[in-house]
Formats: sequence, C-alpha cells, structure tokens
Amino acid sequence: MPSYDNIGTGYNLTRRSDPRIAERINLALGTATSILNVGAGAGSYEPVDRQTYALEPSITMIRQRAASAAPVVQGHAEQLPFASQSVDAALAVLTVHHWPDRKLGLEEMRRVARDRVVILTWDQQVWESFWLVDEYFPCIKTHDRPRAVAVADVTGPLGAVEVVTVPIPADCVDGFHGAFWRRPQAYLDARIRAGISTYALMSEGDLQSGLARLEADLGSGAWQETHQDLLGQDELDLGYRLIIAGS
Ligand SMILES: C[S@@+](CC[C@H](N)C(=O)[O-])C[C@H]1O[C@@H](n2cnc3c(N)ncnc32)[C@H](O)[C@@H]1O
Repeated sequence: MPSYDNIGTGYNLTRRSDPRIAERINLALGTATSILNVGAGAGSYEPVDRQTYALEPSITMIRQRAASAAPVVQGHAEQLPFASQSVDAALAVLTVHHWPDRKLGLEEMRRVARDRVVILTWDQQVWESFWLVDEYFPCIKTHDRPRAVAVADVTGPLGAVEVVTVPIPADCVDGFHGAFWRRPQAYLDARIRAGISTYALMSEGDLQSGLARLEADLGSGAWQETHQDLLGQDELDLGYRLIIAGS
C-alpha cells in the first residue's frame, strides 16, 4: 500500500470537502457533538460546528492541515490513543481501504465511539461499472478489489449497519477517483491523478495504454458519443457509500 508520506505531497491541491457530500456526512453523524476523524488527512469533511479531533499517521498530510483545523494526533486506526467511549462518533472518510488491519481499526473506532461509527467507502460491484474503470483502466478492478470494504467486512467489528448511497455531483470539488465522471479530460491531467492513490499502484504500461485510448476517444468524439447519456446528468451513483453503525 503506498504511504501518504510519499504520495500525499500536494494532496490539498486537488482534494477538499465537497459541500454536498459534507452535508450527507453531517446528516450521518446525527446528533453527535464530539467526533474523532480517523485517517483525517488534510482535514476534509471535518465538521466545524462540533468538537472534532483528528487522527492521521502521515506527517506529510498533517502538515497540510489548516491552522484552524481540528487538533490532530499522529497515529494509526489500529491503535487509537483515545479512551473507550470518549467521543460520540468516530468518522473515517475514504481511508479504511488503506489500513493494514481493517478489522482491528474498525474495532478501535467502535471502542472509542459512544454512539455511532460513520465510514465513507465504495461498493466494488457498482464501481467496476464506472466507464473509466470498465473501458480504459480495467486493471483498477484488480487493484481495488482487495482494498474495497464490503458490508460483510464491517458487520463483524461494528454490528448492524445502515448503508446510504452517496451520488457524486457532476461538478464535485473533491478530486477523488470518481469525481470527474462527466469531465473525462481531467483524468489526463497528472496533477489530478497525483491526488488519487490507485494511480500509484498502476504499472506504467497500464497507465499509458489507458491514457492513450482515453485521449484518442476524446479527440475523435467516440467518448462523447458513447457517453451522451451522462452529459445531461447532474449526479451519478458510482458506488460511493456511507456505512453507519450504531445509529
Ligand atoms: C485518501 S486519504 C483520505 C484523507 C481524508 N479522510 C480525506 O477525506 O481527504 C487516506 C488517508 O488515510 C490515511 N491512513 C493510511 N493508513 C492509515 C491507518 N492505518 N490508520 C489511519 N489512517 C491511515 C492516510 O495517511 C491518508 O491520509
């Protein structure tokens, strides 16, 4: 798994909270007034109107946090330096797939949270039907399958969960992997890809082959013809899911 001390440089150039997704996360957090954000990175999606604490292993990411961001502790999900039941809710946004011991990390979130655990992740089956993955970079299926978090993976450590679909706005301002589904040109931009960990896992051959085909299809109009249906849509389900336990 790539370390964010290596791949996280410049993370906040392309990655920031999208307000529509932030609103869904806020709703999922319910009435919790104290939050621990695990795998907090540069601070995206941290509620500003609640008592929030952050935990993040990478110093490269910690250094990108705003001075006004929640206080951060350097550490790992698998060993949270927080007392049992010390916060109302534990939050993990697009991070669980990076944890070496996911089960232990989730058990730790359950231990520290009195009320609920909220995770943003993706449904691999839906994700694999995304045009970028299916048509241009099928190797992403192989890279993401072992990292994907299935509902069955979380019910052991967390108990019963609610799963909420998070459709991605066409003008999503957080540059995660699915964000540019209606702006295909963006995937040709190395600065955009630098903010998406999957590209650090990809071989140079797979990368160049996918980029060349995408560039050619955009140039010839083949992409636009095949994906006309997307151009009139304002949001799309790419598989992103909020998993909420203990609500
Ligand atoms: C894609 S970033 C997401 C950061 C932030 N949550 C966001 O939404 O922008 C993934 C983060 O998970 C962190 N991470 C990796 N391994 C971890 C672990 N074992 N425990 C906690 N966080 C971890 C990385 O350092 C990185 O900051």
